[in-house]
Amino acid sequence: MDVTNPENVSFEVTDGIGVLTVARERALNALNDKTLHEILGVLDQVRIDRNVRALVLTGRGEKAFVAGADIAEMAELGPLQARRFADLGHRVCGRLERLEVPTLAAVNGFALGGGLELAMACDLVYASERARLGQPEVNLGLIPGFGGTQRLLRRVGIMRAKEMIFTGATYGAEQARDMGLVLEVVPHAQLLPFCLEKARLIASRGPVAVAQAKRAIQAGADVSLASGCELEREAFALLFGTADAAEGMRAFVEKRSPSFRGA
Ligand code: HXC
Repeated sequence: MDVTNPENVSFEVTDGIGVLTVARERALNALNDKTLHEILGVLDQVRIDRNVRALVLTGRGEKAFVAGADIAEMAELGPLQARRFADLGHRVCGRLERLEVPTLAAVNGFALGGGLELAMACDLVYASERARLGQPEVNLGLIPGFGGTQRLLRRVGIMRAKEMIFTGATYGAEQARDMGLVLEVVPHAQLLPFCLEKARLIASRGPVAVAQAKRAIQAGADVSLASGCELEREAFALLFGTADAAEGMRAFVEKRSPSFRGA
């Protein structure tokens, strides 16, 4: 699999902000095996490239963020291959979730099935007013397979997650916002500029601090309050060994803007 020259995704970095676009427009950006591998390749690159301070994930075209896993490709799979395919999707979502830098999903249209699972693996989800979100797998005789049963319940609560998954219904952007799946609904043409602006704002803060905050919050979601608070204490103390914290506090005292180096 050539991930150095991807065909189904594009990746550009401008002023420290990476934009990863799923670009299989003829299939509404559906995730086939090749596309998932290409996304993994980009995430690997982001993980080691210290110039990327935030990542925005979106879909090519006017209609879709990602309309799910590729149904035509899935239709050919037996149980073992399906297991491998699901593992691949879990790897993508897990890696996205564990990325040090903050991730923003710009949901510019359909985010269905694996598409919603991908969005839920991002830290912040913003949607165009045209977005439609849902987990329609039961319509295919399937269930979510890239972590949707688990991430959805953590986002919207157990009963709403059951309703969404049992009915396979799709929801408009505002409904999704009211349920806690989307943070803000933005006019369609404004979505990417809005997300880039948000990403730039976050990227201007101390990168090590943002990364540590992300780790503590993310890990805290799955452990007891006491364990989560312990994680926070460790992260807080660790930051006092960084040049950025020294600079941030000194800049405040000296009444000037801090200049963070990410170290
Ligand atoms: C493969 C897809 C696709 C998908 C759309 N296409 N979604 N191909 N997999 N998930 C293709 C269509 O076949 C069609 O190709 C082209 O994209 C345009 O789609 P249309 O259906 O013609 O567009 P429209 O009528 O506007 O309907 C849009 C839509 C519909 C409502 C989003 O396409 C749809 O219901 N798609 C499937 C959504 C879904 O069920 N997603 C969950 C998948 S399961 P042609 O060649 O005909 O032009 C999943 C499981 C994840 O994600 C876990 C796995 C382990």
